[in-house]
Amino acid sequence: MGSISGLKGRHLLWLVDYSREEILHIVALGLELKRRYYSGEKEIPLLKGRSIALIFEKPSTRTRVSLEVGIRQLGGHPLYLSWNELQLGRGETIADTSRVLSRYVDAIVARVKKHSTLVELARHSRVPVINGLSDRVHPLQALGDMMTIYEKKGRLEGVKLAFVGDGSDNVLNSLIIAGAKLGLHITVGSPPELRPDPEILSYALRESKETGAKIEFVEDPFEAVAGADIVYTDVWVSMGQETIAEKKKKLLKKYQVNEELMEKADSKALFMHCLPAMRGEEVTDEVIDSPRSIVWDQAENRLHIQKAVLSLIIP
Ligand code: CP
Ligand code: NVA
Repeated sequence: MGSISGLKGRHLLWLVDYSREEILHIVALGLELKRRYYSGEKEIPLLKGRSIALIFEKPSTRTRVSLEVGIRQLGGHPLYLSWNELQLGRGETIADTSRVLSRYVDAIVARVKKHSTLVELARHSRVPVINGLSDRVHPLQALGDMMTIYEKKGRLEGVKLAFVGDGSDNVLNSLIIAGAKLGLHITVGSPPELRPDPEILSYALRESKETGAKIEFVEDPFEAVAGADIVYTDVWVSMGQETIAEKKKKLLKKYQVNEELMEKADSKALFMHCLPAMRGEEVTDEVIDSPRSIVWDQAENRLHIQKAVLSLIIP
């Protein structure tokens, strides 16, 4: 695992801005903080005296709760701020909000509808801005997922991850960026109409040439999972896509992760999902509740990886 200094004060809008060594260092610290938590160190004062604003323009269970709890475990003070309860909801600009908040707090985590909102927040902030999910990417999720894959498989390089479902998904975009940097072999099984953000894809394909990662796309979900170590899916309809819900569900109908599909993966293949799951759509109860499913460990690791991220980034 890598080691690195120089993360203090950096924004985390997407993982493109982080090197392979920096990502591995964050993952290693996440694993260490988890180990220390289980050996009885429930509180480690890495964020003592720090306040962190958590702005949410969309709902959240995992990200919000794991951040609030994690910040407290590190001795810091989380402030949950719902978009509509801020003056933002009445028209104060993102720039002015950022200028003001960054005089009070030591970092801002934001979950936003449009990725450009994060860029604007970061441009006017004196303190690090961290992406808690945007329409484009979900870097905290991908970092937690890399930690989980390492924990379960003992390696990242060469791990075969099949993502089945919405090929334009924000979580997939982040998995592709992280996977390209860390040498994963990712096969996406999705309808040709749903493919990743072209900018992210061309970045990942370029990066893969250096790292030996593979990023491939196939239309057939069975072909996608053949020999996979990990089968991953996400909801068919992301937050904010309600108007195109029916169209997407129709396109994705044959991309459900069920027992029949899991049988085509490696016999030791594990099932992952960032959650929330829409049971009966992208995944069946049988798969998500099976011994192959690691979704609860995956969700738990958000807590530990975010503690690693915050303690490394916040000055
Ligand atoms: N996976 C994830 O980010 O979950 P929440 O939307 O509940 O935060
Ligand atoms: N793709 C999903 C992820 C939720 C964590 C969404 O954006 O709604």
